[in-house]
Amino acid sequence: MLSSKFQIPSNFSILVPGDKSVSHRSVLFSSLAKGESEITGFLEAEDPLNTMKSFSKLGIEFTKTGVGNYKVKSPGKSGLASPKEELDFGNGGTGIRLSSGLLAGLDGVNTQLTGDASLRKRPMKRIIDPLSLMGADIQSVTGDGKAPLKVTGKKLHSISYKSPIASAQVKSCLMLAAIASDVELEYEEDELSRDHTENMLRFLGGSIEHISKTHFKIKPPFSFSGAKFQVPGDISSAAFFIVFGLLAKSGTILIQNVGLNPARIGIITVLRNMGGRIEVEKERSECGEIIGDLRVYPSKLKKADITSDLIPSIIDEIPILTIAGLFSENGFEIKNAEDLRAKESDRIHAMVSNLQKLGIVVEEAKDGYAFSEVNEIKPALIESFMDHRIAMSFLILKTLLQNEIQIDDDSWIDTSFPDFKAIVKRLQG
Ligand code: S3P
Repeated sequence: MLSSKFQIPSNFSILVPGDKSVSHRSVLFSSLAKGESEITGFLEAEDPLNTMKSFSKLGIEFTKTGVGNYKVKSPGKSGLASPKEELDFGNGGTGIRLSSGLLAGLDGVNTQLTGDASLRKRPMKRIIDPLSLMGADIQSVTGDGKAPLKVTGKKLHSISYKSPIASAQVKSCLMLAAIASDVELEYEEDELSRDHTENMLRFLGGSIEHISKTHFKIKPPFSFSGAKFQVPGDISSAAFFIVFGLLAKSGTILIQNVGLNPARIGIITVLRNMGGRIEVEKERSECGEIIGDLRVYPSKLKKADITSDLIPSIIDEIPILTIAGLFSENGFEIKNAEDLRAKESDRIHAMVSNLQKLGIVVEEAKDGYAFSEVNEIKPALIESFMDHRIAMSFLILKTLLQNEIQIDDDSWIDTSFPDFKAIVKRLQG
């Protein structure tokens, strides 16, 4: 089994950056809310900043008042204007998919939404199809179901939709379309995907009628006024240092102010099932979300079954969970996760090919991959595939083993976690 000799400095504590999902939503909801809002803890990384820039082109005023803090002035949803230029969401799938829904439901607002080379390869049919059922005018400019997307905003009609995938991006896209157009939406998914949009809607005074945990209705009116949005730390960013803390030889890591939304903490559940010691301290609630501090202790890990109901809540954490699997008795297996192929990169291919470069025998399936207990790895040049989470996962491995692994391009880390490398440096003393 692999093991690390890394000793964490004493009293090591970190703050992870603001939650990416909640940061995007704070821009969208503060744009819909008439009057002045405040956002604190906003993730100042490329993805959410691109969403903010896009909405400023629609006439929303965002004024920076401190690190991660903004004042927002919005005329309310009826006052948003067609921008002169294309809206560029960079690498951000959440930005483009959620914004497409909101903009499709704004009568008279015409936009074109695009992104970088990675984003322009990602599937948009998953939102184009249900938005079209609502009567939206949204076209893939290239005709292949991908961005750029041309959206001609109009008054939509209500639908009842059962999603073929448990995706918070699809769910939130349709919710925002219904909210922008003031129409009812009934939505159902097979497994619960992250519910930050639902929480923010409730926080602004809206209500959700639940038929079951994964089936609900929202009804107009949706008229919001300015509010104070507090963004918690991102559990998906914390995940890299949770795994680091578990795999280190000695010392503990305290990760403060982390969002612990029940639909996001699958990483804690799985790592605990693998034998990891992670303790939650000072649990509290802010802006409709549960927050807490996490204390992580070095632990001996073993393979654990990852059931399909857990997949939506660990979907972004599978690359770093795989790194934990390299240090686990009996190895690692992930299955029922085909949507990994539609993330910032095809993460099944990205992980399998990089693990093979490290000399690991990996079995690839359509919906996952598996490997037996790993005893050694060889130095290799890792390919990031334009994907921040692939780059960060292998940087964690490199730091734990202090070996010769190289990453071809780690600039992608800036899309979600600009301070990542500074924290790693601080760990190294
Ligand atoms: C997100 C939802 C997830 C996740 C993404 C952020 C969100 O995507 O992978 O990083 O903020 O709604 P899917 O809902 O498409 O699985």
